[in-house]
Amino acid sequence: MAKRIDVDNLDAYYGKTKAVSGISMTVEPRSVTAFIGPSGCGKSTFLRTLNRMHEVIPGARVDGRVLLDDEDLYAPQVDPVAVRRTVGMVFQRPNPFPTMSVYENVAAGLKLNGVRKADLDDVVEKSLRGANLWEEVKGRLKKPGAGLSGGQQQRLCIARAIAVEPAVLLMDEPCSALDPISTLAIEDLMGSLKERFTIVIVTHNMQQAARVSDRTAFFNLEGPGRPGTLIEMDATEKIFSNPGVKDTEDYISGRFG
Ligand SMILES: Nc1ncnc2c1ncn2[C@@H]1O[C@H](COP(=O)(O)OP(=O)(O)OP(=O)(O)O)[C@@H](O)[C@H]1O
Ligand SMILES: [Mg+2]
Repeated sequence: MAKRIDVDNLDAYYGKTKAVSGISMTVEPRSVTAFIGPSGCGKSTFLRTLNRMHEVIPGARVDGRVLLDDEDLYAPQVDPVAVRRTVGMVFQRPNPFPTMSVYENVAAGLKLNGVRKADLDDVVEKSLRGANLWEEVKGRLKKPGAGLSGGQQQRLCIARAIAVEPAVLLMDEPCSALDPISTLAIEDLMGSLKERFTIVIVTHNMQQAARVSDRTAFFNLEGPGRPGTLIEMDATEKIFSNPGVKDTEDYISGRFG
């Protein structure tokens, strides 16, 4: 289930432009890791290299290694589509499939060939319960997913992502389009999801990083046009109380970024 990620000296490019440089880190399973840092420092870019979504952008490429429990995600025989099932992703804006029902949205990523309806019903219910949404939608499974509130749509997207039983869940600012109540619902959810999945979340909200994450990675860039780098990564408590680098402290305390 939950797997560990080891990144070794990773660079990511858009064409000739290097967007992130020399990143090495370990993301522990069954924990929440937060990525923080100023806009443009490459958090989203780096996140997408962890499930081979970066390379879908024309001209984009990656150097270095990403290991998932010792399996090299960039080895030549590895199928990127399979990687994206194992390492799922939730985006900033909830993106349910607009023409599909709540039920169909959750089932969308599953292989349906030969699956019995009763088994599919079970997976859909389990995933919606896992995303803490079941009670709110059990009476409207056939209604359009797009008819839910923003916070419900985001939890629907999380249900869709966990339905395929990924090992890792990547979330890129999953609460930035949500109101405070929905944000708290998603934060609570992360606490329970980390028992089964490895979770990585990008956030601009320092309180959120401090509340939900076990470890925090701070990224920065030297200036416009320069690649982003990992400045430090440590236990969240340590990063927020006694970081090793002054820039981290300045960023966390709101002096820049
Ligand atoms: N599709 C793209 N094509 C070319 N350059 C890109 C593309 N996406 C991002 N970049 C560039 O890569 C750098 C890192 O961007 P990225 O989106 O990863 O930063 P970020 O840390 O996620 O920022 P934010 O906090 O604003 O989301 C930026 O200079 C950005 O302009
Ligand atoms: Mg981003």
